[in-house]
Amino acid sequence: MDGLTSIGTAPWSREQITHAVSTFEALYQTRPIQDNSGGMKSPHMFATWFMAKHLSPSVIVESGIFKGQSTWLLEQACPDAKIISIDLNLSQREYVSERATYFDRDFADIDWSGIDTSSALAFFDDHQNAYSRLQLCKWFGFRHVIFEDNYPATQGDCYSIKQAFSGAGFEPLGSGRHKETAGQKLARKLNLLPTLTPQYNRVQISPNQHDAAALRRNVEVYREFPPLFKRDETRWGDKWTGTKYATPEPVLPATAKDNHPVFWEEALAYTWICYVMLKG
Ligand SMILES: C[S@@+](CC[C@H](N)C(=O)[O-])C[C@H]1O[C@@H](n2cnc3c(N)ncnc32)[C@H](O)[C@@H]1O
Repeated sequence: MDGLTSIGTAPWSREQITHAVSTFEALYQTRPIQDNSGGMKSPHMFATWFMAKHLSPSVIVESGIFKGQSTWLLEQACPDAKIISIDLNLSQREYVSERATYFDRDFADIDWSGIDTSSALAFFDDHQNAYSRLQLCKWFGFRHVIFEDNYPATQGDCYSIKQAFSGAGFEPLGSGRHKETAGQKLARKLNLLPTLTPQYNRVQISPNQHDAAALRRNVEVYREFPPLFKRDETRWGDKWTGTKYATPEPVLPATAKDNHPVFWEEALAYTWICYVMLKG
């Protein structure tokens, strides 16, 4: 199932996505953190802003704040929503919202009984096992979920929904599947690798088909949001082919790159961000 990028009908159209680009482009210039390396850049900020705006939930739970850019973005998308923001390390915040309620406990350890989870939006950018997160969402009653980190098979630092659908399983960096360079090894030993987020849950998953089967039983909609631009090579330096990296058609054609230089420059920050609607 490597080529899968969607299941069911998305609650938005491609035309609506295309029309939203210019409004987002103006908003993106006003972002509080101009260099958000280590956090979202334009492809996923556009996707998150568009999907949150379109879903228009009254409650948003954000897990993985970092400097706070995504909190700001969610506020822009849904000015009336209650925002609950979680990060195990809140001291990294540069943008602190007056509207958000902050927690420094894992999503799994928070009492969600006081909110209407069925209409809320859960946004995960915490580099944790997305399959386990989705199971927890079902347990707590969340139905609308965005996974910012949705790595294709053999890439990334956490088990993603895309990997689960592909049947590829997951092995953490340094465990054998990924060839670690000497520099990466040293950086890992010195704790300098920002992508090696400590995992809260299952970290090593053998190739299997049961995760994909369980997803199919529980998921009503799965939608990988298209990248703004698609480059010839991926962020990992290999060819961005449909066989290895199935990707929805980009929002903008490469011929439009001179009109959107920042989007073009940041195109490799795309990692198949997706929306999941769980069955009711
Ligand atoms: C990629 S950053 C988030 C970027 C942010 N959403 C943005 O767009 O700027 C990942 C964050 O997840 C946090 N994190 C790690 N484990 C977590 C957990 N179990 N729950 C919540 N946040 C966690 C890290 O501290 C880090 O700040």
